[in-house]
Amino acid sequence: MKALIALILLVQLPIHKAAPAAPPAPLGCDDPESEAAAEVAVNYINGHSRHGYKFALNRVEDVRVVPQGPNNDIIFLELDLLETTCPILSPTPLANCTVRSFAEHAVEGDCDVKLQKLDGTISVLASKCHSHADSSEDISKICPDCPLLASLNNTEVLETVSAALNDFNSKTTGPYLRLLEIGRGKIQYHPAHVVAVEFAVGATNCSAEEAKVNVGACQLLPEDQSNFGFCTGTMVKLPSQNLHVDCQLYGHQPGVTYVHAGQDTSAGLPPSAVGVSNHDLRISYHNPLASESSSSEVFRSMLSAKPVTKRAVAVAAQHDKVPRPVGFVPPPPPPCPGKIRHFDI
Ligand SMILES: *[C@@H]1O[C@H](CO)[C@@H](O)[C@H](O)[C@H]1NC(C)=O
Ligand SMILES: *[C@@H]1O[C@H](CO)[C@@H](O)[C@H](O)[C@H]1NC(C)=O
Ligand SMILES: *[C@@H]1O[C@H](CO)[C@@H](O)[C@H](O)[C@H]1NC(C)=O
Repeated sequence: MKALIALILLVQLPIHKAAPAAPPAPLGCDDPESEAAAEVAVNYINGHSRHGYKFALNRVEDVRVVPQGPNNDIIFLELDLLETTCPILSPTPLANCTVRSFAEHAVEGDCDVKLQKLDGTISVLASKCHSHADSSEDISKICPDCPLLASLNNTEVLETVSAALNDFNSKTTGPYLRLLEIGRGKIQYHPAHVVAVEFAVGATNCSAEEAKVNVGACQLLPEDQSNFGFCTGTMVKLPSQNLHVDCQLYGHQPGVTYVHAGQDTSAGLPPSAVGVSNHDLRISYHNPLASESSSSEVFRSMLSAKPVTKRAVAVAAQHDKVPRPVGFVPPPPPPCPGKIRHFDI
């Protein structure tokens, strides 16, 4: 019996000794923990976005973990997102949304997100994003005749939206639709002159017949009955005039509201969208439910702590370069940036 206990102690001793000596490995951008945090972050960003389209994860650019205590970490993520074809008001879950292809004139989002992992539960404390369309030169190089994104206040885009919505309203048996916002406008010149638009709409309390009598009295349905939808319109101007429009209403979605970003809603443009080709994700969000103070000041100071963490990662990387005995497993690929899920812009 004594011998058995001694044997157990002997076996256990080196393990106990070795465990605390192992340094914590830096978290890689493609590690499951980073991916789980990125998923929470992307859902949060889409949940707080009010204009344009839902975004999907393309790549985790960087991840940094700042331990706060037992089972309590602050995680900083730098994410690359890509615009999908799902409008922000669409009920389609992100997993079912298609990322817009490069040739459709992709829009990229860059986000810095601060999260907390407390007892295994990840929540967002703050996020800061910016989005921009790929350069027209990039697309023209690969596809010289592809239509390119035009400014959302481009005259031809505005004309086409108006013509498409009038055409739809003149034929529909459903409710009279009002424009909420223009999502995208693309113009092609060769081989035909084509203007393609996408815009969000809302059902009013009028039928198309009632709207003919007094369109001014037709109001968007109140919040508890709201019914949003989305239209695509294509106007061929040359060689011959032709208009095609298609609209789909989503049905009432409890809790989903459209936030008007300014007075200029008749043109379907929040002030931030005038003169640009895509709605910007630029807004910063601070989770009011977050337990920790996450003022913009704190967020900025935490982000500026980045070089220190970078240096720590660099030192760890150098450590890996120490010559290994023959037969040793080769070191893993660099932990960041992570893999590209769709395409590189
Ligand atoms: C999303 O995709 C899943 C799996 O392909 C499918 O079962 C589900 O019906 C889709 N949901 C919607 C809302 O399209
Ligand atoms: C729509 O709502 C507005 C404002 O409440 C009201 O003045 C108008 O009569 C309504 N129109 C119809 C057709 O019910
Ligand atoms: C679109 O907005 C830009 C920036 O405000 C302005 O310079 C331009 O004239 C506008 N274009 C049209 C067609 O309104």
